[in-house]
Amino acid sequence: MGQPQPILEPLTPAAHFLVATIEPGGEAAVRDLLAELPGLRRAIGFRLPGAGLGCITGIGSAAWDRLFGGPRPAELHEFPGYDGPLHHAPATPGDLLFHIRAQAHDACFELAMAIGDRLAGVGVIVDETVGFRYFEQRDLLGFVDGTENPEGALPDSAAGAAALIGVGDPDFTGGSYVIVQKYLHDLPAWRALPVQEQERVIGRTKLEDFEFDDADKPPDSHIAVNQVIEPDGTEREILRANMPFGSIRDGEFGTYFVGYSATPRTTEIMLDRMFLGTDEATHDRILDFSTAVTGTLFFVPPQTFFDDLPAPAVAETAAEPVGDPAAPPGPAAGADGSLGIGTLKRSSN
Ligand code: HEM
Repeated sequence: MGQPQPILEPLTPAAHFLVATIEPGGEAAVRDLLAELPGLRRAIGFRLPGAGLGCITGIGSAAWDRLFGGPRPAELHEFPGYDGPLHHAPATPGDLLFHIRAQAHDACFELAMAIGDRLAGVGVIVDETVGFRYFEQRDLLGFVDGTENPEGALPDSAAGAAALIGVGDPDFTGGSYVIVQKYLHDLPAWRALPVQEQERVIGRTKLEDFEFDDADKPPDSHIAVNQVIEPDGTEREILRANMPFGSIRDGEFGTYFVGYSATPRTTEIMLDRMFLGTDEATHDRILDFSTAVTGTLFFVPPQTFFDDLPAPAVAETAAEPVGDPAAPPGPAAGADGSLGIGTLKRSSN
């Protein structure tokens, strides 16, 4: 199995999420950035011992075809979006995801800044979210978030089985799929709900984080909807790395949902149940208090992928003269030439 990106590492107190689109003609510079990323992370992380700086990079479906030729991750596609009778999950643009994580925010910020510099002129950051750990791993609804995640840090652990691609897609073992969605909470409405009723929305007690007995668990509670049991009795699982975020000025209080899975199908089944309902519930009641405002699906290649990127897509290899004056600017545009891929740069249109 290819060495995974640090998906299975425990949640950190700080995270910085960048979602970017690639400008037409920016493909070569983005390839340079992807090749340079492991070194950038090492350089910044080494200056901050103990910060545990990590970056998980995801690539969207359309971007994949613009960046790489050769085999394609079997289940990579655009986020479908969900249109329920009451609640909607929009599909929003995104070619690249950088899920930066560390013990301290300065480390995350420094790496985000370096990525931003290299995207200047070749990509557009369409969403930036600063996530933080909030009391006892709680979300801003006040409930502990992440308890029932599958456990383990090794690929053969329960977490690895849920999140990492196995032998089913031999070219991409150790990879993963991630769906990210930004949810905004209606805190005034939530706070107006008595705690006992909030607990019925989630399906767990608020203070102790104990799960309700099945008999007491409302079918439209968040955990009843997201417990997906196969006919053979096995439970479908994903690995969540949700982070709270917010802005006091803007009155924005949210959860950045991050779901890693060996197949996007599992997360999609959960979303289908949340937004379109189950046999017993019209929708997940958490959605009466939380609105999805973004939604994007990415493939997360194994770490080794970045050491030796596949050849560019065919259109990209129809090379135009090196040093084309119309080539997009960008500090990473082959500046070091160390990987020899700068020569594939093309003009901006
Ligand atoms: C469980 C919060 C969105 C899937 C939970 C729990 C909380 C929570 C508090 C219970 C503790 C735990 O086991 O982690 C939230 C919030 C969300 C959100 C605040 C956004 C507003 C989602 C989405 C999915 C999802 C979009 C799937 C697509 C799950 C799963 C569980 C869970 C699988 C564990 C169920 C179990 O086996 O008990 N979530 N969640 N969540 N959530 Fe979410």
